[in-house]
Amino acid sequence: MNAPKITPQIIRAMKGRERIAALTAYDFAMARNLDEAGVPLLLVGDSLGMVVLGYPDTTHVTMADMEHHVRSAARAKPHALLVADLPYGSYLTVESALENARRLIGAGAEAIKAEGGQNVLPQIKALLAAGIPFLGHLGMLPQNVVVEGGYSIKGKTAEERAILMKDAAALADSGAFGVVLELVTPPVAREISAQISIPTLGIGSGSGCDGEILVTTDLLGTSPGHVPKHVKKHWNFAEQMRAAVVEWKGDVIHPGTT
Ligand code: KIV
Repeated sequence: MNAPKITPQIIRAMKGRERIAALTAYDFAMARNLDEAGVPLLLVGDSLGMVVLGYPDTTHVTMADMEHHVRSAARAKPHALLVADLPYGSYLTVESALENARRLIGAGAEAIKAEGGQNVLPQIKALLAAGIPFLGHLGMLPQNVVVEGGYSIKGKTAEERAILMKDAAALADSGAFGVVLELVTPPVAREISAQISIPTLGIGSGSGCDGEILVTTDLLGTSPGHVPKHVKKHWNFAEQMRAAVVEWKGDVIHPGTT
Protein backbone atom coordinates (compact mmCIF):
# COMPACT_ATOMS: atom_id res chain seq x y z
CA MET A 1 0.00 0.00 0.00
CA ASN A 2 1.34 3.44 -0.92
CA ALA A 3 -0.31 5.40 1.87
CA PRO A 4 1.60 8.07 3.83
CA LYS A 5 2.64 7.31 7.40
CA ILE A 6 0.05 8.81 9.75
CA THR A 7 1.48 10.99 12.51
CA PRO A 8 -0.18 12.61 15.54
CA GLN A 9 0.06 15.91 13.63
CA ILE A 10 -1.93 14.45 10.74
CA ILE A 11 -4.64 13.17 13.11
CA ARG A 12 -4.74 16.57 14.80
CA ALA A 13 -5.08 18.34 11.44
CA MET A 14 -8.02 16.14 10.41
CA LYS A 15 -10.31 18.11 12.75
CA GLY A 16 -12.86 20.02 10.71
CA ARG A 17 -11.62 18.47 7.44
CA GLU A 18 -12.22 14.75 7.57
CA ARG A 19 -14.00 12.56 10.10
CA ILE A 20 -11.75 10.06 11.82
CA ALA A 21 -12.64 6.34 11.96
CA ALA A 22 -10.40 4.65 14.53
CA LEU A 23 -10.34 1.06 15.80
CA THR A 24 -8.57 -1.09 18.35
CA ALA A 25 -5.95 -3.63 17.20
CA TYR A 26 -4.40 -6.20 19.48
CA ASP A 27 -2.00 -8.20 17.31
CA PHE A 28 -0.06 -8.43 14.05
CA ALA A 29 -2.84 -9.85 11.85
CA MET A 30 -5.50 -7.50 13.14
CA ALA A 31 -3.25 -4.44 12.78
CA ARG A 32 -2.24 -5.48 9.23
CA ASN A 33 -5.87 -6.03 8.14
CA LEU A 34 -7.22 -2.83 9.66
CA ASP A 35 -4.30 -0.87 8.25
CA GLU A 36 -4.94 -2.27 4.79
CA ALA A 37 -8.59 -1.20 5.19
CA GLY A 38 -7.31 2.37 5.58
CA VAL A 39 -8.00 3.02 9.27
CA PRO A 40 -5.75 5.98 10.24
CA LEU A 41 -5.48 5.34 13.99
CA LEU A 42 -5.08 1.94 15.64
CA LEU A 43 -5.26 1.65 19.41
CA VAL A 44 -3.75 -1.24 21.32
CA GLY A 45 -6.41 -0.65 23.94
CA ASP A 46 -6.46 -2.16 27.39
CA SER A 47 -9.89 -3.49 26.33
CA LEU A 48 -7.71 -6.41 25.22
CA GLY A 49 -7.98 -7.51 28.85
CA MET A 50 -11.62 -8.43 28.28
CA VAL A 51 -11.84 -9.28 24.59
CA VAL A 52 -8.54 -11.14 24.20
CA LEU A 53 -7.32 -12.21 27.64
CA GLY A 54 -10.63 -13.03 29.33
CA TYR A 55 -10.25 -10.74 32.35
CA PRO A 56 -13.49 -9.37 33.84
CA ASP A 57 -12.41 -5.74 33.31
CA THR A 58 -9.39 -3.62 32.37
CA THR A 59 -8.08 -3.29 35.94
CA HIS A 60 -6.34 -6.68 35.56
CA VAL A 61 -4.26 -5.68 32.54
CA THR A 62 -0.53 -5.46 33.25
CA MET A 63 2.34 -3.64 31.58
CA ALA A 64 3.64 -7.03 30.46
CA ASP A 65 0.28 -7.74 28.74
CA MET A 66 0.38 -4.37 27.00
CA GLU A 67 4.00 -4.69 25.88
CA HIS A 68 3.34 -8.16 24.45
CA HIS A 69 0.37 -6.96 22.36
CA VAL A 70 1.98 -3.67 21.31
CA ARG A 71 5.01 -5.62 20.02
CA SER A 72 2.74 -7.91 18.04
CA ALA A 73 0.67 -5.07 16.49
CA ALA A 74 3.80 -3.01 15.76
CA ARG A 75 5.24 -5.88 13.67
CA ALA A 76 2.50 -5.05 11.12
CA LYS A 77 4.40 -1.76 10.54
CA PRO A 78 1.10 0.05 9.97
CA HIS A 79 0.74 3.28 8.03
CA ALA A 80 -1.82 4.06 10.72
CA LEU A 81 -0.71 5.78 13.89
CA LEU A 82 -0.22 3.07 16.53
CA VAL A 83 -1.39 4.26 19.95
CA ALA A 84 -1.10 2.20 23.17
CA ASP A 85 -2.97 2.43 26.46
CA LEU A 86 -1.15 2.86 29.74
CA PRO A 87 -2.84 0.19 31.87
CA TYR A 88 -4.43 0.50 35.29
CA GLY A 89 -2.07 1.68 38.02
CA SER A 90 0.81 2.34 35.63
CA TYR A 91 0.67 6.16 35.70
CA LEU A 92 -0.08 7.02 39.31
CA THR A 93 3.02 9.21 39.49
CA VAL A 94 4.89 11.29 36.94
CA GLU A 95 7.86 8.92 37.25
CA SER A 96 5.85 5.74 36.67
CA ALA A 97 3.94 7.34 33.78
CA LEU A 98 7.21 8.25 32.07
CA GLU A 99 8.86 4.91 32.70
CA ASN A 100 5.85 2.89 31.52
CA ALA A 101 5.12 5.10 28.50
CA ARG A 102 8.77 4.65 27.46
CA ARG A 103 8.35 0.86 27.77
CA LEU A 104 5.33 0.95 25.42
CA ILE A 105 7.17 3.23 22.98
CA GLY A 106 10.08 0.78 23.18
CA ALA A 107 7.65 -2.01 22.24
CA GLY A 108 6.62 -0.08 19.10
CA ALA A 109 3.83 2.32 20.11
CA GLU A 110 3.99 5.75 18.48
CA ALA A 111 1.72 7.55 20.95
CA ILE A 112 0.24 6.89 24.38
CA LYS A 113 -3.30 7.10 25.74
CA ALA A 114 -4.28 7.29 29.41
CA GLU A 115 -7.55 7.95 31.20
CA GLY A 116 -8.27 11.20 33.02
CA GLY A 117 -8.09 14.98 32.74
CA GLN A 118 -6.85 17.56 35.20
CA ASN A 119 -6.07 14.80 37.75
CA VAL A 120 -3.35 13.39 35.48
CA LEU A 121 -2.16 16.67 33.95
CA PRO A 122 1.35 16.49 35.50
CA GLN A 123 1.81 13.02 33.99
CA ILE A 124 0.54 14.19 30.57
CA LYS A 125 2.81 17.24 30.61
CA ALA A 126 5.80 15.08 31.50
CA LEU A 127 5.09 12.68 28.62
CA LEU A 128 4.71 15.55 26.16
CA ALA A 129 7.88 17.20 27.48
CA ALA A 130 9.66 13.90 26.84
CA GLY A 131 8.46 13.99 23.22
CA ILE A 132 5.79 11.30 23.65
CA PRO A 133 2.56 12.15 21.76
CA PHE A 134 -0.53 11.86 23.95
CA LEU A 135 -4.18 10.95 23.31
CA GLY A 136 -6.60 11.74 26.15
CA HIS A 137 -9.58 9.71 27.35
CA LEU A 138 -12.52 11.35 29.16
CA GLY A 139 -16.09 10.45 30.12
CA MET A 140 -16.69 6.94 31.35
CA LEU A 141 -13.27 5.69 32.35
CA PRO A 142 -13.18 1.87 32.25
CA GLN A 143 -10.23 1.75 34.68
CA ASN A 144 -12.57 3.29 37.32
CA VAL A 145 -15.11 0.47 37.01
CA VAL A 146 -14.37 -1.05 40.40
CA VAL A 147 -14.38 2.29 42.25
CA GLU A 148 -17.58 3.45 40.51
CA GLY A 149 -19.29 0.05 40.67
CA GLY A 150 -20.09 -0.10 36.93
CA TYR A 151 -20.01 1.72 33.60
CA SER A 152 -22.21 4.82 33.57
CA ILE A 153 -22.90 7.61 31.09
CA LYS A 154 -21.18 10.92 31.93
CA GLY A 155 -22.35 14.49 31.37
CA LYS A 156 -25.90 14.07 32.65
CA THR A 157 -25.61 16.70 35.37
CA ALA A 158 -24.43 20.32 35.15
CA GLU A 159 -21.55 19.43 37.46
CA GLU A 160 -20.39 16.51 35.28
CA ARG A 161 -20.72 18.68 32.17
CA ALA A 162 -18.58 21.41 33.75
CA ILE A 163 -15.86 18.93 34.78
CA LEU A 164 -15.80 17.37 31.30
CA MET A 165 -15.54 20.79 29.64
CA LYS A 166 -12.65 21.78 31.92
CA ASP A 167 -10.86 18.47 31.47
CA ALA A 168 -11.21 18.61 27.69
CA ALA A 169 -9.89 22.19 27.58
CA ALA A 170 -6.97 21.20 29.83
CA LEU A 171 -6.06 18.28 27.55
CA ALA A 172 -6.21 20.49 24.45
CA ASP A 173 -4.11 23.20 26.15
CA SER A 174 -1.56 20.65 27.34
CA GLY A 175 -0.73 19.61 23.77
CA ALA A 176 -2.61 16.30 23.49
CA PHE A 177 -3.30 15.55 19.80
CA GLY A 178 -6.82 14.25 20.43
CA VAL A 179 -9.22 12.93 23.03
CA VAL A 180 -11.48 9.89 23.27
CA LEU A 181 -14.93 10.71 24.70
CA GLU A 182 -16.45 7.49 26.03
CA LEU A 183 -20.15 7.30 26.97
CA VAL A 184 -20.56 11.06 27.19
CA THR A 185 -24.09 12.36 26.60
CA PRO A 186 -24.33 13.36 22.91
CA PRO A 187 -25.11 17.08 23.57
CA VAL A 188 -22.10 17.44 25.88
CA ALA A 189 -19.85 15.50 23.47
CA ARG A 190 -20.98 17.81 20.66
CA GLU A 191 -20.35 20.89 22.80
CA ILE A 192 -16.84 19.74 23.76
CA SER A 193 -16.08 18.94 20.11
CA ALA A 194 -17.15 22.43 19.07
CA GLN A 195 -15.11 24.13 21.80
CA ILE A 196 -11.73 22.45 21.73
CA SER A 197 -9.08 22.65 19.04
CA ILE A 198 -8.17 18.95 18.99
CA PRO A 199 -10.22 16.09 17.50
CA THR A 200 -12.64 14.16 19.67
CA LEU A 201 -13.11 10.44 19.03
CA GLY A 202 -16.46 9.35 20.38
CA ILE A 203 -17.40 5.91 21.62
CA GLY A 204 -21.04 5.71 22.61
CA SER A 205 -21.17 9.54 22.61
CA GLY A 206 -23.31 10.31 19.56
CA SER A 207 -22.40 11.67 16.15
CA GLY A 208 -21.29 15.15 17.19
CA CYS A 209 -17.66 14.14 17.73
CA ASP A 210 -14.90 14.58 15.14
CA GLY A 211 -14.74 10.84 14.65
CA GLU A 212 -15.45 7.52 16.27
CA ILE A 213 -13.40 4.78 17.87
CA LEU A 214 -14.71 1.27 18.41
CA VAL A 215 -13.48 -1.93 19.97
CA THR A 216 -12.94 -3.93 16.76
CA THR A 217 -14.23 -7.20 18.17
CA ASP A 218 -17.52 -5.43 19.06
CA LEU A 219 -17.79 -4.24 15.46
CA LEU A 220 -17.02 -7.69 14.06
CA GLY A 221 -19.14 -9.60 16.56
CA THR A 222 -16.35 -11.65 18.11
CA SER A 223 -16.34 -10.04 21.56
CA PRO A 224 -17.46 -12.67 24.03
CA GLY A 225 -20.76 -11.77 25.66
CA HIS A 226 -22.59 -8.49 25.50
CA VAL A 227 -22.21 -6.05 22.57
CA PRO A 228 -22.60 -2.45 23.70
CA LYS A 229 -25.65 -0.52 22.44
CA HIS A 230 -23.52 2.08 20.66
CA VAL A 231 -22.32 -0.53 18.15
CA LYS A 232 -24.96 0.20 15.51
CA LYS A 233 -23.85 -2.01 12.63
CA HIS A 234 -22.04 -5.08 13.65
CA TRP A 235 -21.22 -8.27 11.89
CA ASN A 236 -21.39 -11.75 13.35
CA PHE A 237 -17.95 -13.13 12.62
CA ALA A 238 -18.21 -15.44 15.64
CA GLU A 239 -21.14 -17.24 14.01
CA GLN A 240 -19.27 -17.43 10.69
CA MET A 241 -16.21 -18.80 12.48
CA ARG A 242 -18.30 -21.52 14.14
CA ALA A 243 -20.02 -22.38 10.82
CA ALA A 244 -16.63 -22.65 9.06
CA VAL A 245 -15.31 -24.94 11.78
CA VAL A 246 -18.43 -27.15 11.76
CA GLU A 247 -18.17 -27.47 7.95
CA TRP A 248 -14.44 -28.28 8.10
CA LYS A 249 -15.00 -30.76 10.93
CA GLY A 250 -17.71 -32.48 8.85
CA ASP A 251 -15.25 -32.79 5.94
CA VAL A 252 -12.64 -34.32 8.23
CA ILE A 253 -15.02 -36.81 9.81
CA HIS A 254 -16.91 -37.73 6.62
CA PRO A 255 -14.48 -37.06 3.77
CA GLY A 256 -15.95 -36.62 0.29
CA THR A 257 -19.49 -35.77 1.42
CA THR A 258 -19.39 -32.01 0.70
O1 KIV B 1 -9.17 0.14 25.53
C1 KIV B 1 -9.91 0.52 24.63
O2 KIV B 1 -10.30 -0.23 23.73
C2 KIV B 1 -10.33 1.91 24.64
C3 KIV B 1 -11.44 2.27 23.69
C4 KIV B 1 -12.71 2.01 24.38
C5 KIV B 1 -11.33 3.65 23.23
O3 KIV B 1 -9.86 2.70 25.38
